[in-house]
Amino acid sequence: MGMTSLLFCGVSFALPLFVAADTCKDICMYNEIISEGQPFAFNCTCSSETNGAVNRTWYKTPSHSPISNNRHLRIHQEQTWLLFLPLALEDSGIYQCVIRNAHSCYRIAVNLTVFKKHWCDSSMEESPINSLDEFQQTLFIGKSGNLVCHLYFPDSCVLDSIKWYKGCEEIKAGKKYSPLRRMLLVDNIAAEDGGSYACSARLTHLGRHFTVRNYIAVDTKEVGSGAMIPNITYPKNNTIEVQLGSPLIVDCNITDTKENTNPRYWKVNNTLVDHYYKDSKRIQEGIETNVSLRNRILYTVNITFLEVKMEDYGRLFTCHAGVSAAYIILKRPAPDFRAYLIGGIMAFLLLVVSVLYIYNTFKIDIVLWYRSAFHTAQAPDDEKLYDAYVLYPKYQRKSQGHDVHTLVLKILPEVLEKQCGYKLFIFGRDEFPGQAVASVIDENIKLCRRLMVLVAPESSSFGFLKSLSEEQIAVYNALIQHGMKVILIELEKVKDYSTMPESIQYIRQKHGAIQWDGDFTEQSQCAKTKFWKKVRYHMPPRRYPASSSVQLLGHTPCNCTAGKCNAATGLITP
Ligand SMILES: *[C@@H]1O[C@H](CO)[C@@H](O)[C@H](O)[C@H]1NC(C)=O
Ligand SMILES: *[C@@H]1O[C@H](CO)[C@@H](O)[C@H](O)[C@H]1NC(C)=O
Ligand SMILES: *[C@@H]1O[C@H](CO)[C@@H](O)[C@H](O)[C@H]1NC(C)=O
Ligand SMILES: *[C@@H]1O[C@H](CO)[C@@H](O)[C@H](O)[C@H]1NC(C)=O
Ligand SMILES: *[C@@H]1O[C@H](CO)[C@@H](O)[C@H](O)[C@H]1NC(C)=O
Ligand SMILES: *[C@@H]1O[C@H](CO)[C@@H](O)[C@H](O)[C@H]1NC(C)=O
Ligand SMILES: *[C@@H]1O[C@H](CO)[C@@H](O)[C@H](O)[C@H]1NC(C)=O
Ligand SMILES: *[C@@H]1O[C@H](CO)[C@@H](O)[C@H](O)[C@H]1NC(C)=O
Repeated sequence: MGMTSLLFCGVSFALPLFVAADTCKDICMYNEIISEGQPFAFNCTCSSETNGAVNRTWYKTPSHSPISNNRHLRIHQEQTWLLFLPLALEDSGIYQCVIRNAHSCYRIAVNLTVFKKHWCDSSMEESPINSLDEFQQTLFIGKSGNLVCHLYFPDSCVLDSIKWYKGCEEIKAGKKYSPLRRMLLVDNIAAEDGGSYACSARLTHLGRHFTVRNYIAVDTKEVGSGAMIPNITYPKNNTIEVQLGSPLIVDCNITDTKENTNPRYWKVNNTLVDHYYKDSKRIQEGIETNVSLRNRILYTVNITFLEVKMEDYGRLFTCHAGVSAAYIILKRPAPDFRAYLIGGIMAFLLLVVSVLYIYNTFKIDIVLWYRSAFHTAQAPDDEKLYDAYVLYPKYQRKSQGHDVHTLVLKILPEVLEKQCGYKLFIFGRDEFPGQAVASVIDENIKLCRRLMVLVAPESSSFGFLKSLSEEQIAVYNALIQHGMKVILIELEKVKDYSTMPESIQYIRQKHGAIQWDGDFTEQSQCAKTKFWKKVRYHMPPRRYPASSSVQLLGHTPCNCTAGKCNAATGLITP
């Protein structure tokens, strides 16, 4: 019992200044030593315990009345902050922030000591050393590092124009020093970079300007065991393939100890990317985020390329974290060979299709041209006498058959024999008088290279079957079946082949027929019209026997002069 009261007495004696003898729990105690004449702010925050508490009120002990919320007063509370604009010597003392929520009460205490400081004024050449309000920072020799300006104020205070000093001399940005946000990056650190530094910033609050100043004692060290060195887990000096013109975001992931205040940033050509691209903003550094691991922190700071340009390829974009650095190099992706392959195949197919199309369209012209250009002078070796046997409907009454006779006996010989130099066997012209029909056909048809059959629809005036003898049909059926080539010429459009012999039907189906398109007058025809070209195409290539009893055309076969055919042209007259 006595022990308990003694302990209670001790506690109440130790904290005689703490007001509000209620059940508030003291959770934090801070010591702040600051020089007078500058703004100072303290946030009422301590541990996660107090999160969610709505009411935080500042007191200056031993007073029981809260510090005013009037923003125009030199000392006031602003949200959770206690703000001095600026500090005066008499502000030294103990301040408390009481944190209340529905069920509990916590208390934070700040022991504030304000002192008078001379900094680089006329009374002293050197900046003061080992002053109480100095922040301690370390730089590693041979590496690059940074100093941090501690500016901890509520959002209503606008901070800008950050300046850095070594001793009393202002530091100019250059190769060695580059200011970055609230940091000063120091490159290629040497032992003499240690010493007294200061940073100052202009603070603007409700239109009034103040100057805040930090004093930093910098101490230089050799790089130690590495435990303190931040570890860049990505990038790893790797290349990244990226298409020209596409956007790109690359993370820099760093793990660092909780105590380290290393800055993390991206550089290109040894310049901060945000500075290098400050006009175009095409490449920007992202806002750093962090995740707490067990006893380290994982930091991520990304670099964003809105659009990758040619000049970015091959360049080193380096992520720095304190003394550590790692870069990425952008690379154009290797051309996609599959695309080329597909393109090549497509082009090839297109070529094949167009060649086939051209061949089909101009097949006849091509073949005829080829024959005329590369004709052979050798005698035919198939021991045949005629190029074609012409089979045509015959009519009892002359008037009916007049047109057919004109075609067969006048026009065909005119064009194929005279102009083109073919030799035809025409029944009714070439047989010897008195010969039996069957034997004429039988003997002569075998001496022919082609069988030319002129057909007409059954209903028309040139009825076909009616005019053919059964022997004829039997003979040419046999020939066709033995592979003799047949040229089918329709005198009129034939719609119904079903009444024709089977072999004709077959030929028609397989090879089609040539449609006669001229009239039957005796007017001269030209071998160069479409119809005759088709016929010539189906005729055997013309040969030029060296010794011939037949009068032949010259080197240009099937010649005719415009409109009027001139059979005499090119005739070799012995
Ligand atoms: C100040 O403290 C409040 C209450 O703990 C907290 O919500 C806020 O984030 C703090 N502000 C800063 C800038 O740390
Ligand atoms: C917070 O507490 C102070 C003093 O106890 C009181 O004047 C104020 O109204 C409270 N504010 C809120 C939001 O509860
Ligand atoms: C407050 O800080 C000053 C200077 O550091 C010290 O002398 C004083 O004892 C402190 N007061 C309390 C209550 O801790
Ligand atoms: C970097 O860390 C973040 C988590 O903070 C993770 O989502 C991301 O995948 C990491 N990136 C790389 C490249 O490792
Ligand atoms: C890189 O920086 C150097 C100076 O540090 C400068 O001479 C050079 O022109 C820069 N290169 C580019 C591509 O900006
Ligand atoms: C890059 O950083 C920005 C913040 O600066 C963030 O909004 C964005 O989501 C980040 N992008 C990626 C892919 O992490
Ligand atoms: C982590 O990020 C938060 C803001 O997202 C910041 O307030 C805090 O200072 C960061 N922590 C460290 C150790 O950088
Ligand atoms: C990456 O290159 C930097 C120099 O830019 C070097 O210091 C670092 O060791 C390299 N890191 C790796 C993983 O190769």
